[in-house]
Amino acid sequence: MSFPIVVLISGSGSNLQALIDQSLQGQLNVRICAVISNKADAYGLERAKLADIPTHTVDHKLFSSREEFDAELQTIIDQYEPKLVVLAGFMRILTETFAKHYEGRMLNIHPSLLPKYKGLNTHQRAIGAGEKEHGVSVHFVSPELDAGSVILQASTEIAPDDTAESLAKKVHSLEHIIYPLAVKWFSEERLTFQKGIALFDEKALPENGILYNQALL
Ligand code: GAR
Repeated sequence: MSFPIVVLISGSGSNLQALIDQSLQGQLNVRICAVISNKADAYGLERAKLADIPTHTVDHKLFSSREEFDAELQTIIDQYEPKLVVLAGFMRILTETFAKHYEGRMLNIHPSLLPKYKGLNTHQRAIGAGEKEHGVSVHFVSPELDAGSVILQASTEIAPDDTAESLAKKVHSLEHIIYPLAVKWFSEERLTFQKGIALFDEKALPENGILYNQALL
């Protein structure tokens, strides 16, 4: 029996595509029950349709408060009874109620080595600060933005001639490796969240999560 997940997006959906591809190739034993976007023109919706995955658009602009938007989102998600909710470039700040409802069963991917560079424009900010390395983190979602327990990180060097665009490309290719891996671990119950603590193989994860290397695949 494959593991039911729902994926939330706002844009291109390349991380969604990585999940679709790995599940089609049998590397990831999950069933993507639905893809939900807050933007009707998100290209990720096309990717989902091509893979015969049901899609929904919940346009945040049609709601008068974050609470109402999140409540509608929750109603749609819960219809599918997913065991995991995967935020894949879903660019919305979540209410505490929503984050708590999915505590321990909602993941996010963020393009920085958390706790550095929460929020937006992470690639430019890392270059501007003169960092030598940058990267990406997968973490459990908590009510505070980009602050939940980190599960897995992958890093890349910042070359002297890197721009925000070239760095984004490098980070994206790492995202497509580590996000499916974290989802796989969760679906296999190697990754769990118990009493507020993220565990991998029943041991508490270190503060910065596990640093990705190829041997983990
Ligand atoms: C990814 O780079 C992801 O890390 C980022 O949005 C992009 C979505 O790309 N997420 C955040 O910044 C969340 N704070 P995609 O639509 O091609 O998967």
